[in-house]
Amino acid sequence: MSSSATDRPIALVDRARLARLVVAERELYAERHPRSAAAHASARHLLGGVPMTWMNKWSGGFPLYLDRAQGNRITDLDGHTYIDFALGDTGAMAGHSPAATVEAVTRRLTELGGITTMLPTEDAEWVAAELTRRFGLPLWSFTLSATDANRWAIRLARLATGRSKILVFAYCYHGSVDEIFAVPGPDGVAVARPGNVAPPVPLDRTTRVVEFNDGAALERELAHGDVAAVLMEPALTNIGIVLPEPGFLDQVRAACDRAGTLLMIDETHTFSAGPGGATAAWGLRPDIFVIGKSLGGGIASGAYGLTDGVAERIAAHPEADLVDVGGVGGTLAGNVLSITAMRATLEHVLTDAAFEHMIALATAFTAGVRARVESSGLPWSIAQLGARAEYRFASPAPRSGTASAQAADDLLDEYLHLFMINRGVLITPFHNMALMCGQTTAADVDVHTDLFGQAVALLLGAGTAGESGMDQG
Ligand SMILES: Cc1ncc(COP(=O)(O)O)c(C=O)c1O
Repeated sequence: MSSSATDRPIALVDRARLARLVVAERELYAERHPRSAAAHASARHLLGGVPMTWMNKWSGGFPLYLDRAQGNRITDLDGHTYIDFALGDTGAMAGHSPAATVEAVTRRLTELGGITTMLPTEDAEWVAAELTRRFGLPLWSFTLSATDANRWAIRLARLATGRSKILVFAYCYHGSVDEIFAVPGPDGVAVARPGNVAPPVPLDRTTRVVEFNDGAALERELAHGDVAAVLMEPALTNIGIVLPEPGFLDQVRAACDRAGTLLMIDETHTFSAGPGGATAAWGLRPDIFVIGKSLGGGIASGAYGLTDGVAERIAAHPEADLVDVGGVGGTLAGNVLSITAMRATLEHVLTDAAFEHMIALATAFTAGVRARVESSGLPWSIAQLGARAEYRFASPAPRSGTASAQAADDLLDEYLHLFMINRGVLITPFHNMALMCGQTTAADVDVHTDLFGQAVALLLGAGTAGESGMDQG
């Protein structure tokens, strides 16, 4: 046994015990959710049994079926109410059905009418100006998802630079964008990430890839002179949270400038860093900016922003028909309902005051988990990014996507997810992320902290299963 930073002996997880605990939690989950189980079993016309295949990521063999949701509470078909820290994997960072968004959208739907008309409303300019105020870029266009915003912005980056490749970081995620599912092969050349679905061409034709926080590799790959844009999150958030090391983001900006490569920052998740995302919080200078998910309070919305310089370079290509032939598609993009939702959410819900509250709670969440991890002796870590936090089964916290991927432990994930669900708490099913919204309270955070402590104690053979079947109404 070696010693941890706190001089405690490192605790090891007994895999046989873990397996037994998972079986017990699965049984409890099945017992508590007969109506969700039945609904799932009878879904014969849905690919994979769910309306969107990621929903199969929920632990326990079938997803909870939603009855209703408000603020940070979700009630399932079996009548259990949960404290929701998953918040639709960020889609509901504004809380479920935020009142101001619901009111504005309802007025548009009922009184004014016009869900999608291919006509602008005056709200579009308000939203674009607000995005400029928050994130700095002067020109905006709208989409219905962050995936679409990334796809379209990649096209524009290629047009502006006349270059073909996109550079990404290993184990990034930016939506189902063909270029991004790459990891470095043995010679550093991009290969498809395990599990990638039917890439249209080999990844090395479209993509260069390096590890996050590896400035030297980034400079080396950009030196080929064929990279249109570096597409990145300021911190990786889809393989745990991997924070940038001091100076790394400055190095990326400088390397892009030297190589004539555009810097494209995707803040779909890192918006949690503050009202202006990490871009404002950390003083970043993207050439292209992408955001989605929470922008419309849960109503489908996304946006990308461009600098004047990028817009001018695009305009220098009159042969590219942006209006029609190859342009910016999505008949429903920028529709009235989506724009209405974005205005209400940005103006009244995801405000400076809301972020202050959310970040304070994520700080408390992080401190609580960290204290329990440290006292347990488990070699785990937790990272915080504004209003979100995530624990990872490695210590110190991984500094690259590949290192973080290596720390994945599906059985531990399942144990912790089910332990929480069976006691009335949801954390995001794809990893161990917890996100705060305006309605999350300090008491909600304490409930999670206590449960986390119980789960860890039980795992190490030092506790009892505690009270199960709690509802958090
Ligand atoms: C950083 C980032 N960008 C883009 C996306 C894609 O968002 P959507 O699935 O809403 O299109 C995601 C989804 O998780 C994401 O994490």
